[in-house]
Amino acid sequence: CEKPDARPLRQRLLVVANRLPVSAVRKGEDSWSLEMSAGGLVSALLGVKEFEARWIGWAGVNVPDEVGQKALTKALGEKRCIPVFLDEEIVHRYYNGYCNNILWPLFHYLGLPQEDRLATTRSFQSQFEAYKKANQMFADVVHQHYEEGDVVWCHDYHLMFLPKCLKERNSNMKVGWFLHTPFPSSEIHRTLPSRSDLLRSVLAADLVGFHTYDYARHFVSACTRILGLEGTPEGVEDQGRLTRVAAFPIGIDSDRFIRALELPQVQEHIKELKERFAGRKVMLGVDRLDMIKGIPQKILAFEKFLEEYPSWCDKVVLLQIAVPTRTDVPEYQKLTSQVHEIVGRINGRFGTLTAVPIHHLDRSLDFYALCALYAVTDVALVTSLRDGMNLVSYEFVACQDLKKGVLILSEFAGAAQSLGAGAILVNPWNITEVADSIRQALTMTPEEREKRHQHNFVHVTTHTAQEWAETFVSELNDTVIEAQLRTRQ
Ligand code: G6P
Repeated sequence: CEKPDARPLRQRLLVVANRLPVSAVRKGEDSWSLEMSAGGLVSALLGVKEFEARWIGWAGVNVPDEVGQKALTKALGEKRCIPVFLDEEIVHRYYNGYCNNILWPLFHYLGLPQEDRLATTRSFQSQFEAYKKANQMFADVVHQHYEEGDVVWCHDYHLMFLPKCLKERNSNMKVGWFLHTPFPSSEIHRTLPSRSDLLRSVLAADLVGFHTYDYARHFVSACTRILGLEGTPEGVEDQGRLTRVAAFPIGIDSDRFIRALELPQVQEHIKELKERFAGRKVMLGVDRLDMIKGIPQKILAFEKFLEEYPSWCDKVVLLQIAVPTRTDVPEYQKLTSQVHEIVGRINGRFGTLTAVPIHHLDRSLDFYALCALYAVTDVALVTSLRDGMNLVSYEFVACQDLKKGVLILSEFAGAAQSLGAGAILVNPWNITEVADSIRQALTMTPEEREKRHQHNFVHVTTHTAQEWAETFVSELNDTVIEAQLRTRQ
């Protein structure tokens, strides 16, 4: 007789995020190449393997023609990705406008762009309409691919309208929503003209998740203060219906990084980097070129360090990898020029004919080169002004088991709550404090480095992306069962 298969069928998961894990680049009328997308959301979700997952999202390009759409759908299908086609006009108002010029800065406590404040206020309504329309287009694609029993997991600030769109058509759908950015104080959220619509829509989900307890608390306060609903220890209650709200700190696929360090091509890179920077301590920054990452502040703190401790000038180098992002948004264009200007000035001031203190790259590195860079680094500088979690700090820790380098970490990154005991925590706005912590990191005893690293390494290797996703999905399944039991009583 046939042996029964011991493994239960894997649960089908529809992951819906604005950005797919791969972005498409057109090579011909019906040919595409796919490149890995940047950002914490993608790197965490790639570590989620236990589910039968399909991704639904925007492929990052405008594909107006049917031939192109068909070819791209096929190419993405091989990667279990399903595209949502958004035209240029929608992308401009939904993605560049409402998402990245309004919600993103607001959720990171940066307010609205200064010079554009009035213009933004005027175009606000039309951008919000585009946002709702785009969310509806995502919902349409979810409905086309949904099968009964699927878990639909919506991600991030781009898709706050999605839970409502999904539940309106199918109230039995299991819907979770997770925010990858901070959720700000309710006093900040209150300033948004569409504040109530967004909250109500998110509350249509069965489970709402955040990286930290503080973000969850801010969300519940916004619902109580702005919508007048009742906050309970489990979440938010509206006319007897409970939306569960909880913290689910994200992680990375740490094994992927640890295993990569043993590969010959990574070892080769490590050797080259060691030779290239022999005699100098390596400091590293890896960020998307985004104002929330505090890159100018970090570089000014490094300048302050060189000023205060001149004997270090020829003994240290800062490698800053700045991955271009959202390049159509004017604020990001301005930031790029600002960073170039500061780096040029400092290199002119402290450089010699043979060496410069800052190596700044406006591009991403491939995974293996990145692992090698993490492994040879003495001090990593993560100085975000605000950051939902910041997984670069996790990646660095995962690659440092031999070297036991020091992590300088912003107290305004979600990661400060998990890696705070091992890192040196700083206020990124205080460049004197950051300069002093650079010195502290560079002169730390091996025993102290070991102790701090060990704390962080244990955390990073036990709180993984896989564990994060499993916890969220099982909590979502339980929440739905409990709600069904409650309505039957
Ligand atoms: C952050 C956001 C993600 C986003 C990523 C990259 O991590 O939380 O949702 O995908 O940045 O930004 P982009 O605009 O290029 O998708």
